[in-house]
Parts: sequence; C-alpha cells; structure tokens
Amino acid sequence: MNTIPNHVAIIMDGNGRWATERGKKRSEGHKEGAKALERLALHAEKLGVKVLSVYAFSTDNFKRSKEEVDYLMNLIIYYLNNKLQTVVDRGIKIVFSGRKIGLRDDVIAAIDTITDKTKNNDKCILNICLNYGAQEEIVDASLKVADDISTGKLKKEDLNRDNFYKYLYQDLPPIDLLIRTGREHRLSNFMLYQAFYAEIYFVDTYFPDFLENNLEEAISYYQNRDRRFGNVKTD
Ligand code: IPE
Ligand code: IPE
Ligand code: MG
Repeated sequence: MNTIPNHVAIIMDGNGRWATERGKKRSEGHKEGAKALERLALHAEKLGVKVLSVYAFSTDNFKRSKEEVDYLMNLIIYYLNNKLQTVVDRGIKIVFSGRKIGLRDDVIAAIDTITDKTKNNDKCILNICLNYGAQEEIVDASLKVADDISTGKLKKEDLNRDNFYKYLYQDLPPIDLLIRTGREHRLSNFMLYQAFYAEIYFVDTYFPDFLENNLEEAISYYQNRDRRFGNVKTD
C-alpha cells in the first residue's frame, strides 16, 4: 500500500453545472466551489499532504463571458484578501502558477500580498494555478532554459527531466494523485509535465459537492494502486 500522496492536484470542475442544475446562476456555483476549496485545503493539510495544487482558472477560461471572468476574478481577490485567513493561520504556504500578464492589477496585488504573507510558512504548500496553462508553462520554461544556456548558467548537456522542474512556474515535486471532479475525463491543459506518473482519479461529483470524505476516498484509491514507474513488479 502506498503512503499518503506527497503531491495531490485537483482539477476543480463542475461549478457551472452544479448551479445550472439547481436553477441558479453559474456564479453561485463558483461561490460554492471556493468554499469547497477552503475546506479541502485544510483537510489535505490535516491528512499530511505536503503539496496541494488546484486549477482555479485556465488561460483558456478567458474565452468565457466578461461577466463570468469578472465574477471569478473578484471572487479570487475576496478569497485571497479575506477568506483564506484560516489557511494562512494553519501554516500553509500559498504559491501561484500561471502567467501574471493578462491578469488585472488588483488580482496581481492580491497574489503578491498573500505570497509574501505566507512565504515563511512551512507546514505544506497550496499551489493555486491561475491564468495557468501547462503548454504555456512548458514554453515559458523552455525560454528560461534558452536564456540560461545563452548566458552560460546552464550547459546544454546538463539539462535533464529532473532539473527541468526548476524552470517551471514553481519547483514542486511530481504529482502523485490527480483528481478531476465534474464528469469529464480529460486534462484540459493542466500540469502535463508534473503529472507524468500521477495516478488519475476521475469522479462524477461536481466540485462544490466534493467533501473531505471524498478526498479521503480518492486518497484510498491512490493507496491501493500498484505504482511501477515503468518497472516490473518484484514481489
Ligand atoms: C470549474 O467549473 C471552475 C472554472 C473553470 C473556473 P466550470 O465553470 O468549468 O463548471 P462547468 O464545467 O461549466 O460545470
Ligand atoms: C478546467 O476546466 C479548468 C479549471 C478547472 C479551472 P474547464 O471547464 O475549463 O475545462 P474544459 O473546457 O471542460 O476542458
Ligand atoms: Mg468546466
């Protein structure tokens, strides 16, 4: 049996459908989704998860209506400035992955404030993927690699799959368990590099209904997987 996963990642999907099926506006679903995230971050820490990465807003989510994008950005600011205090008090360090270019100044200010406020927290890490795309991350990392090679900081022959992590938005360990709520079975441009040997858990539950015990179910699914990493079972 595997131990508690070191790095859990969640594609928090299904907020809109959760609301629509209840005759509510999509924004209501996002509001409930934010509450679910707060609960899960605290519970993951309690269970001993060291890194929790969550997909909050993708680069492609800018294709949505201005009304929905504005609502989401305001909700994110509200959470970063007020609601996530419990997470901060619990000693969780909050970091962000994604492109700052394209985000509103007030969103960037909220990101910078909470990053600074939690930088010395060492209990565990909450990595919020905001204006995030995995292909964009790999392209951005490749540009940094090219810079380091041209300035002589990195020798071409020294680059490998392990030290490439240093060029990603955050230098985090690989994902052990990747959860996607909300019925879809796809990755939607999420952490493609870090998920290389992740166990993937798809669950029909819409994100606002994904509770602490559902996280425990996903973890016990993970604990029962036989992770071979390309090797052959040897018992
Ligand atoms: C996930 O829920 C949250 C974001 C993408 C911001 P959705 O908004 O994608 O909800 P559905 O998939 O439309 O139900
Ligand atoms: C992925 O969900 C992005 C987030 C959860 C933030 P989407 O709802 O954007 O993904 P698709 O469009 O169903 O692939
Ligand atoms: Mg969706």
